[in-house]
Amino acid sequence: MLEELETLQTQALATLEQIGGADALPQWYRTHLGRKGNLTELLRGLGQLAPEERPAVGQKGNAVKKALEEAFATRQEILREAELEASLNAEPLDISLPGRPVAMGRLHLTTRMLRQMRAIFAEMGFQVYEAPEVETDENNFELLNIPPYHPARDMWDTFRVNDKVVLRTHTSPGQIRCMREYHPDPIRVILPGKCYRYEQITPRSEHQFFQVEGLAVGHGIRMTDLIGTMAEFARTMHGPDRRLRIRGSYFPFTEPSIEMDMDCIICEGQGCRICKYSGWLEVAGAGMVHPKVLANGGYDPAEWSGFAFGLGVERPAMLHHGIEDIRNFYANDLRFLRQF
Ligand code: PHE
Repeated sequence: MLEELETLQTQALATLEQIGGADALPQWYRTHLGRKGNLTELLRGLGQLAPEERPAVGQKGNAVKKALEEAFATRQEILREAELEASLNAEPLDISLPGRPVAMGRLHLTTRMLRQMRAIFAEMGFQVYEAPEVETDENNFELLNIPPYHPARDMWDTFRVNDKVVLRTHTSPGQIRCMREYHPDPIRVILPGKCYRYEQITPRSEHQFFQVEGLAVGHGIRMTDLIGTMAEFARTMHGPDRRLRIRGSYFPFTEPSIEMDMDCIICEGQGCRICKYSGWLEVAGAGMVHPKVLANGGYDPAEWSGFAFGLGVERPAMLHHGIEDIRNFYANDLRFLRQF
């Protein structure tokens, strides 16, 4: 039986050597080393041997098994390498192909607009003051001279967090924060940021949008300072040919209040969907800071005066680029965003 084992090993190794492709390896393994392979078959005869012969045959059996296993592993490795090499030669890799380009990000159109506006006001000496988007009802309304029962609350449809906390409906509550922090120094700041209103979404209005608030508090500040500042801004931003118009208006936190309009860039004042066929676009709400608001901020209205304005951000960007639908700003459509 020792001889038979020896022969089995020799023959098995010889057939292994002749195998030319990895495909044939499993079959060889089954034939020689499998559960029903010829080594197993042969060793089944172990029981019929005389007891004293068994250990030697058993040992030989294990040695043959080990030798075959090792030879199999080596052959497998060799064949795999050969196949890899063959496939590399058949389809050469072009390592000079350029890599995939890295996708570059860019600033959102709104961000670029905000930076442009900041730069214009910086030229006029305005600093930037940051205020939170989640505000108290007190700052958003009450301290801006809008008591709970006041009908002016209807001007802003509000997202409420609870009785006392809202998503700010405008950047004006930042005026209170700023005055309370800067008092008793004079103030010249803009407050850029996002606002939220519980509104129907249309091509002209979104429920989230940016504003740039302006606030100047000092001695002897007058309405003409406000108009001059606004005119300077409009000229720099939209070009010297823009026509402006000032209308009397109402805001609870300014007195007197005005609204500033500019002729529609999209239709050149002819009337279109964007300007609601009026030829004019509302650019800013503004006015002289109401004495009560000055007092709420810690400034004595007998000594101090100031102006405030609230500018839209998306609207002028739409004018600049001829964008007809404000919903594009938040639709996250890269085909739109990549144009700017
Ligand atoms: N906060 C006002 C609005 O959102 C705009 C405004 C700001 C008006 C400052 C006057 C002064 O409609």
